[in-house]
Amino acid sequence: MATLLIFFVLMNLDLLLRTGHCTETRDQILSITPKTQEQVDILKNVSTQYETALWQPVSPHYIKEETQVHLFVPANSSETVKELLQRHAVAHEVLLANANELIEMQTRNDSTDPRSSATFYERYHSLEDIYYWINRTAHDNPSTVKVILVGSSYEKRPLYALKLSFNDRPNKKAMWTDCGIHAREWISPAFCLWFVHYSLSFYKQNQDITDILDNMDVYVLPVMNPDGYKYTWTSNRMWRKNRSISKTTSCIGADLNRNFDANWCTEGASHNPCTEIYCGAFPESEPESQAVADFLRRHKDTVQLYLSIHSYSQMLLFPYSCSLEEAENHSDLLEMAEEAAQKIRRYYRNIYRYGAGAKTIYLAPGGSDDWAYNLGIKYSFTFELQDRGRYGFLLPPSHISGACNEALIAVKTIALKVIEKT
Ligand code: ARG
Ligand code: ZN
Repeated sequence: MATLLIFFVLMNLDLLLRTGHCTETRDQILSITPKTQEQVDILKNVSTQYETALWQPVSPHYIKEETQVHLFVPANSSETVKELLQRHAVAHEVLLANANELIEMQTRNDSTDPRSSATFYERYHSLEDIYYWINRTAHDNPSTVKVILVGSSYEKRPLYALKLSFNDRPNKKAMWTDCGIHAREWISPAFCLWFVHYSLSFYKQNQDITDILDNMDVYVLPVMNPDGYKYTWTSNRMWRKNRSISKTTSCIGADLNRNFDANWCTEGASHNPCTEIYCGAFPESEPESQAVADFLRRHKDTVQLYLSIHSYSQMLLFPYSCSLEEAENHSDLLEMAEEAAQKIRRYYRNIYRYGAGAKTIYLAPGGSDDWAYNLGIKYSFTFELQDRGRYGFLLPPSHISGACNEALIAVKTIALKVIEKT
């Protein structure tokens, strides 16, 4: 009996020590809901002055009372930050106590794994692997898949899109999907790979995807921001922007989703290159956004549906984000998003919010969806995939299939509606 008791005491002591150890030395995600203006100011201060990465909201500017803030705090500033919060009686909750472990889980791979092929789409892949996969996919499907060089990045990496085309019908329509505008949103490129793989595997097996591919060419750009994506694999997992160098400061990168010509750099974006929502020097100043804009301008007569894939927060958004104005076909867009969200809820028991961007989240000018819409692509959506903050940008690989399948159902629902309406 006594030994048993000692055993339990030791067990708990060990647990205590281990968890204590973890909280001191690991990168963490904190969830904080400021209750007063003073606490709001402290949080703004913490997220700008310290080496942290704001996960939610996207910029300190949006921190407000009674709204949850998700903050990535690297191990080396963890003590200072927590002390500061405690000193000002700002309550915080540890959302993730060991982000390092999750990061390790996300990069554990890969081509070296002999069983890799079966679970290829349920893992995250480095930029090199994605480039390899793009070429391989086109090579293995010569009659249906082509690689298109859409442009190149600031650091001169290629921007490859895949074109899936199953027939040469006259006046055939098309849809465009880009992934990975924001570097740290890894589930997004994973979705593009999933979508292509699903299309190639289930054509003539699944009615919906067959109808879509019979009626539309499908363009997929898996990594729109390769420089940033590469950087999240090698240097900073929390990087969002591209990697362009600005003339005026040492701060690097522009937010590609603030760089399009749609009420460019008005409220919701920033001229300051040191912020996460820096709009760039002028509209399409960044080679990545310019390349996509050029491609869509050249193909605007065929492309009927524009999709941009982000994470996280589980939302189906449509124009406008750059103003509070209502899109001319608002009720159509709303109906499509609603049906897609309903299907996700029915089949996957997951909740997606939906609506016009500015009214559903915040004003965010210069986005690709609004720009594409104004170009004349009347069905334009931004998806925010899983999750709602439990893991945030560090969604474990085991969640990839669930996240992609539910997003796929939304894509199918919307694409079929577009075919029906046009
Ligand atoms: N979280 C995305 C962003 O901040 C939302 C995109 C919605 N659309 C838009 N045009 N802002 O970029
Ligand atoms: Zn994003």
